[in-house]
Amino acid sequence: MNQFACEVRSGLAKPQKELPSKYLYDELGSALFDAITALPEYGLTRADRRILNRHAVDLPRDFACVAEFGSGSGSKTRAILEAIAPKTYFPIDVSPAALDRCTRELCGMAHIQPIEDSFLEGLDRVREAQESGALLLLFLGSTLGNFDSRCRNDFLQQVRLRMRSGDAMLIGLDLVKPLETMLDAYDDPTGVTAAFNLNLLGRINRELGGDFDIRAFAHHALYNETDRRIEMHLRSRINQTVTVTEADFHCRFRADETIWTESSHKFYADEIPEIAHATGFVSEALWVDEEWPFAESLWRAV
Ligand code: TRP
Repeated sequence: MNQFACEVRSGLAKPQKELPSKYLYDELGSALFDAITALPEYGLTRADRRILNRHAVDLPRDFACVAEFGSGSGSKTRAILEAIAPKTYFPIDVSPAALDRCTRELCGMAHIQPIEDSFLEGLDRVREAQESGALLLLFLGSTLGNFDSRCRNDFLQQVRLRMRSGDAMLIGLDLVKPLETMLDAYDDPTGVTAAFNLNLLGRINRELGGDFDIRAFAHHALYNETDRRIEMHLRSRINQTVTVTEADFHCRFRADETIWTESSHKFYADEIPEIAHATGFVSEALWVDEEWPFAESLWRAV
């Protein structure tokens, strides 16, 4: 049984059913995510890009290499490569489709070495490939917010272990904002985010021989006040049983029972330097967008 099948099986066996969000990004999922970033309700990517366009020139220039976690289509990265002119750029992504698009988009701006892997394994491979000089790691789009808060510092420490002093990380984090604004960003009226979320069931059908009736599930986004995060779920509209042949199991759903597919934590600007400090970094700069509360911070490994 492959890893996807194992993780689907164990996630759907939990009392609160869940599926790992990295599987949202197959070819169709990556294209739908690109569409999300263009939605009027999803201000996050535009805020990220505004800050990068304005402040790329303020970044230190002493980096020989740039690596990026979850590069996606790479469209936000252009300003940084222009300002820094690194020798090599290593986009790290689980989606080969996203890596292809990113390589085409940024072609000619550096020597591009795409790495199809998860983040820490990908960073290990950057370390093996990188000769000398300091590394700037990009962790944009509030992707850290998609980590479970209990694993977050542990993950950052694992990143820090793979860096040398003098290396840096540029990290983009979405900030707490009015409830309606946050909910609309993850439940747009045109249904693109719903399609992105539901595609995970389509992917299980295609790759693992599942028989999910996708119309019998609905996208559901909520804000969990206590944990300060948007949660994305897939809610079963009816009582039903689903079979996933490749994962060798049946799964029963009660009406209104949900599968939890993603979280997106929201931060306060004040806590960002504290997170840096707790995980072996020093925050050297923090920029906040004026239109859409979003912060970009430069963390130096010390
Ligand atoms: N890092 C993005 C975020 O937290 C990921 C994301 C955006 C996302 N929209 C989504 C994930 C919709 C799942 C569904 O905002």
